[in-house]
Amino acid sequence: MIQDNYGRGISYLRLSITDRCNLNCFYCRPGKGTRFIPHKNILTYEDMLYLLHSVSGLKVQKVRLTGGEPFARRDILYFLHRLKHELPELDLRLTTNATLIAGKIRTLKDIGIKGLNISLDTLDRDKYRRITGHDSLNSVLTSIERCLEEGIRVKINVVALKGVNDDELDDFIQLAVDRPVDVRFIEFMPIGEKTLWKKDYYWPSAELLQAAEKIIALNPVHILDKNHGPARMFRPGNGLGRLGVISPLSEHFCTTCNRLRITANGGLRTCLFSDREYRLLPLIRSRRISREKLLLVLKRAGQRKPMGHELYTGNEPKSLCRRVMSSIGG
Ligand code: 5AD
Repeated sequence: MIQDNYGRGISYLRLSITDRCNLNCFYCRPGKGTRFIPHKNILTYEDMLYLLHSVSGLKVQKVRLTGGEPFARRDILYFLHRLKHELPELDLRLTTNATLIAGKIRTLKDIGIKGLNISLDTLDRDKYRRITGHDSLNSVLTSIERCLEEGIRVKINVVALKGVNDDELDDFIQLAVDRPVDVRFIEFMPIGEKTLWKKDYYWPSAELLQAAEKIIALNPVHILDKNHGPARMFRPGNGLGRLGVISPLSEHFCTTCNRLRITANGGLRTCLFSDREYRLLPLIRSRRISREKLLLVLKRAGQRKPMGHELYTGNEPKSLCRRVMSSIGG
């Protein structure tokens, strides 16, 4: 197992399988003319299988595929099939905007995908169009229902944006009451050189929870699963689902961080907020470099995983990383 210098064991890998996305959420990839990674530098499915076989040898048990938008990549179902077939023990998950999955949900279930994290920042059709540039809200909501019918667990990621979706708190709570889904509000993070982060948008989790408690009783859910991640979850009233917050700014969870990230061009990042990247692409592709060398780099990099970040220390937002979110994968 990869162990870092602070005794944190690394059991979780996030792999961005493309930096392309069919949506244009204003906060995610700001700045005109964002350049995409050239295709030749994007890990092929063969590259990714080689990498994932390697990390599973290092006891990484959980892998989340992210993007951009994973379903914007051609032949993703073929890849998922192969991955599940070759590494059946792997706890495989995906983060998606769910705009491209209609018609694929039964297949996802058959492949063995147990849950999806779905990014959805509003339940209002016009606002959805304004945030993302696409009129896809109804399709997303239909796909969420289809997932639930198939028994695929759904977690909804909402980027908490004051002045944008704070007026929808009660609608999101109602969703978590009516449907067996986890609705998780994520504090907006200043990521990428041209981030639009400003204090006006910042909706701290504590404030959000206070506002939610005025609407409904929030019963804390104690999650025993050690892989439960950084969310703090509550059951609203007797609801079917849960409501939660992820607070990267107001409440650092670095001490429990167990993850590595790999960008679509094979850059290994040991912290979301640090631009230090270890280039794995040549180690993966070159036939002259042995798998042992790749494992060694993974282990060494993992050991040096930093503790802590200073994302938000006061009034001034600090973007600690140059890459945009869509090329890291969240
Ligand atoms: N701050 C917080 N969350 C973000 N996401 C994308 N950009 C940001 C940001 N700057 C969310 C996406 C996705 C998850 C992986 O991260 O909406 O749900």
